Order: sequence, then structure tokens, then C-alpha cells
Amino acid sequence: MKTSAVSGKTRELLMSDLRAGAGTWVSGQSLGERLAMTRSAVWKQICALKEEGYVIESSPRKGYRFCEVPDRLLIREIREGLATRTLGQRDIRYYRQTDSTNLRARELAAQGFPEGTLVVAEEQTQGRGRLGRHWFSPPLQGIYASLILRPAIPPHEAPRMTLLSSVAVAEAILGLTPLAVKIKWPNDILVGGRKIAGILTEISAGMDTVEHMIVGLGLNVNIPADAFPREIRHPATSILAETGVFSSRIKLLRRCLECYESYYDIFKTKGFDPVMDRWKSLTEMMGRRVMVQMVGGRHVGKVSHFDQEGFLVLRDDRGESIRIFSGDVTLL
Ligand code: BTN
Repeated sequence: MKTSAVSGKTRELLMSDLRAGAGTWVSGQSLGERLAMTRSAVWKQICALKEEGYVIESSPRKGYRFCEVPDRLLIREIREGLATRTLGQRDIRYYRQTDSTNLRARELAAQGFPEGTLVVAEEQTQGRGRLGRHWFSPPLQGIYASLILRPAIPPHEAPRMTLLSSVAVAEAILGLTPLAVKIKWPNDILVGGRKIAGILTEISAGMDTVEHMIVGLGLNVNIPADAFPREIRHPATSILAETGVFSSRIKLLRRCLECYESYYDIFKTKGFDPVMDRWKSLTEMMGRRVMVQMVGGRHVGKVSHFDQEGFLVLRDDRGESIRIFSGDVTLL
């Protein structure tokens, strides 16, 4: 019996039928027969898909033709061809607008949502940056995504995950754009000295273990150079501003998840050294004179090294070593 009550699953089947026949006409009747739906139920679902941004042509005689996937961070598009086992394969929460994906993810983590749960938004009204800063999050032009992780590590090793995050995001950008990205400690992703992506890692920990970790990624993808608010125009940039071409946010997000999972696997199976080695090869800070601004003050000195826990070690002008857990670095 045909029914017009369409479950979410049926919509996904309709979508994969349309996608499989992309570019060719498929009649409403044949779609309806395959999915046991009336033609008007098919039409309603097509309207809903168009609402989501899909470009689907309709003709009373020929039926429907699937033309274009929108550049939206839709759950089914994130999952389409995503080559991960865990990250992005669990629950995904999608918001057209939210205050901060990190806040949403934090709520889910507190409710016990598992590692790999992902929150994405097309726009954030109160995007949060490191050190209490605001993260510019205009609609449909950037990636604003937060992952829940539950790494089995003691709290003092949490900075390692921060460095791992920046390596993963840098690899994703390197893989999909011609940009020569660099990392500034702890996890700013730069192109030509300007910030193209930032990561906000927030942890909830007991005495001995990390309970959960929220890794929030802000990636400036298709933001025109002159759209950045005056106060952050320097040193912020975007992939569009650097390359002059629009990039697919969905492909970048998928690649970030895939790179993240590979480095996370390396960390779990081989330890932190290989991750740290890659991090070092992506930073230009070694031996540089820097100023580090922290909540309680600042230090100036030469970068000596980054230690095994991910701390920055400076040698100050008196020759003393200073080990820094968190701060904002300016290259001098
Ligand atoms: C930084 O200051 O460099 C970190 C910026 C992190 C921004 C991202 S956007 C998605 C997630 N949600 C937030 O509110 N912040 C992070």
C-alpha cells in the first residue's frame, strides 16, 4: 500500500536514488514505486530537499533531475563518503545558527554523548575564541564545528591533544588547497602570518583522567578579505582571500575529520612522538624570539623547544628556561 507518511529513512532513500541518477531525469512515478510512496509524497520530499538547498529541477513530463548539492554542512553531506570509523559517524547536530558549537557540544558531553559526536553550525552568534576572545562566524562562509572526544589520558597530557588538533587541521588544508599553512603554538593555523583557522579545546577532567574534551574548530573558508571586522582584519585571512577561489566547506570538514582520526589513531597506537614531529615540521617558531602573553603576565625569549607534554619552553634573556602551558604568542 502506498503511503504519504514518509519516514526520515525514506527521505534518505529518495535522496540516494536522486543522487545515483544525478544529471538525468527520473520520473516521479518510478521514484514513488521504488520507495512505495505516492507521487505527491515524492513531490513533498523534493520540496523539503530544495528547502535544504539542493538544486533539483522538476518537469511535469520528465520528473526530477538532481543537479547540485548545496555547500551546507548538512548531516547527510558530512556522512556522504566520510572515511572515518568514529569521528562524525555518531550523532551529528546541525544548526543553521547557534551561539557557540562548543557550548552545544559541552551540553551533549555532559549528557554522556560518546566520542565522535559532532556539532556543526552555519553561523555562530557568540563564537568563542581562545583567551576569552570572540570568533567571527558569519553565515555559510566558514566551518564552525565541535567534536566530543573522550581520550584515555591524564589531564596533564591534554595539551598534546591541542597540538594534535592543529596538525590535523593543517594537514586537511594542505591536502585540499595550494596554501602553505603553518602552525603557531599552541594551535593557530596561519597562512603568510595571518590566521586562517583556530581551535578552542576545552576539557572536563577529574583528578586522574580527562572525562571529556571538546575540540572546536573555526576555519575561515569563503570569507572575503574585506568582510572581517576592522579590529581583526589583521591578522585574519581566509582560504578565499588567499586563493581567490571558493572552496567546498563540506569537503574541508570531511577532510578535517579524516585527518583528525588518523592522527588520533597514531597517538593512541604509537604515542605522541610522531604527532609532535609533524607539528614541529609545520611550525616556524623554532629558535624565534617571541613574546608570550598569558593571563597573569608576559614572557619574552627565544623558543628553545616544545616538550613532550606540548608545553612551550622559552629561554629568556637571562638564560633561564620558562615552561609555558598556555598563552598567546607574537613572533618578534
Ligand atoms: C582561537 O581563538 O584561535 C580559537 C577559535 C575557535 C573557534 C571555534 S568555531 C567552533 C567552535 N565554537 C566556538 O564557539 N569556538 C570554536
